[in-house]
Amino acid sequence: MIKKIPVQSLEPGMYVSDFNAGWLHHPFAFNSMMISNEAEVARVVAAGIRELYIDTGRGRDIGDHVPTADEVERETARQVRLIEAAPAVSSAETRVSLAEEMNRARQAFGEAVRIIRGLMEDVRLGKQIELASTQPTVEKIVGSVMRNSNAMMTMRRLKSLDDYTFLHSVSVCAMLVSFSKIVDLNLSAIHDIALGGLIHDLGKMRLAQAVLNKPGRLSEEEFVHIKAHVVLGSDLVRQLPGIPPLAMEPLEMHHERYDGSGYPRGLKGDEISRVGQMSAIVDVYDAITSDRPYRKAMSPAAAVQKLFEWSRHHFDPEMTKVFVKSVGIYPIGTLVRLESGRLGVVIEQCDTQLLTPVVRVMYDGKRQHYIVPEDVDLARPMGMGGADSIVGFESATKLGIDISRFLQ
Ligand SMILES: [Fe+2]
Repeated sequence: MIKKIPVQSLEPGMYVSDFNAGWLHHPFAFNSMMISNEAEVARVVAAGIRELYIDTGRGRDIGDHVPTADEVERETARQVRLIEAAPAVSSAETRVSLAEEMNRARQAFGEAVRIIRGLMEDVRLGKQIELASTQPTVEKIVGSVMRNSNAMMTMRRLKSLDDYTFLHSVSVCAMLVSFSKIVDLNLSAIHDIALGGLIHDLGKMRLAQAVLNKPGRLSEEEFVHIKAHVVLGSDLVRQLPGIPPLAMEPLEMHHERYDGSGYPRGLKGDEISRVGQMSAIVDVYDAITSDRPYRKAMSPAAAVQKLFEWSRHHFDPEMTKVFVKSVGIYPIGTLVRLESGRLGVVIEQCDTQLLTPVVRVMYDGKRQHYIVPEDVDLARPMGMGGADSIVGFESATKLGIDISRFLQ
């Protein structure tokens, strides 16, 4: 049977019956062929082909079985290799060291949480709000991310279970800045987007708080109520003087989905602006990587895997790849377990080697005690400070390890 599939689903063993591109626009000698290895998959992806036809009579089909943890792990690794092989997304470089930026990032994050909490309280109490009070804090977040985005990304990983709505607002703001930096938006646009990110869920304060904070599954009716937060927020903010149009996009579009299944307007594909697409990806990523009362946070690697899966329908696949490249698989501040049994904190990563960051090893996982910290570059071969590899994530909270101590 001939099937049209998205390029993300292409795997070795599939028989391509048509690349769905002119002969000049794909890298192979024939328009139909057996895909025999990952390098060939990478070449198809690199050619910019989005969809193609496979013949399931002559090769593998898209399986619809539920993947095992091992397969998920392997699939993530495969996707990562494809992303790494993609051309560099930006010239955005880090201007100061992580250690230098940490204190400023901590202060900016804390201040932003206080500001958005105050603003949201005002909305909840029906008071008149003014956005001028957010400007200094938005500037601090933008400044911090521009100097070294890793510091602010670390802050969002350290956030706790309390006050999810406020922390989520600041996280979305910071991640949108980081994403905007990587897609080379100009600084004035980044400021507007940052403001939009910070206030994207303001409308939630106009909802019945009992529904908003309900820990369990929502009824159909309750879900309809929750969805109203977008329109409520947009009605509230739109009438404020001096609100830049770009700041409205994260607010109004963060629940729109690429295939038209989102809300409130059910916009499709390019009807959702680029900033709207970016906001949707960031909003979902932050939500699934955060602890909630009713479910544990997903590890960054599992979250990336989910984003890829959903990008077949919900997000622009190209933007998803760029986002993953910006956020990484093992973000700075992640606690990881190494093959040697040691635990360490990711302290450095490079966007061409997403699976082999630099890890500050500081805990013996087998004997359960701290060891003298040592920085291990997992990309380096044996005998050069490398030769260990990440086997999984660990919960710093569960082990009572204060990650921030090791990031100084
Ligand atoms: Fe929302």
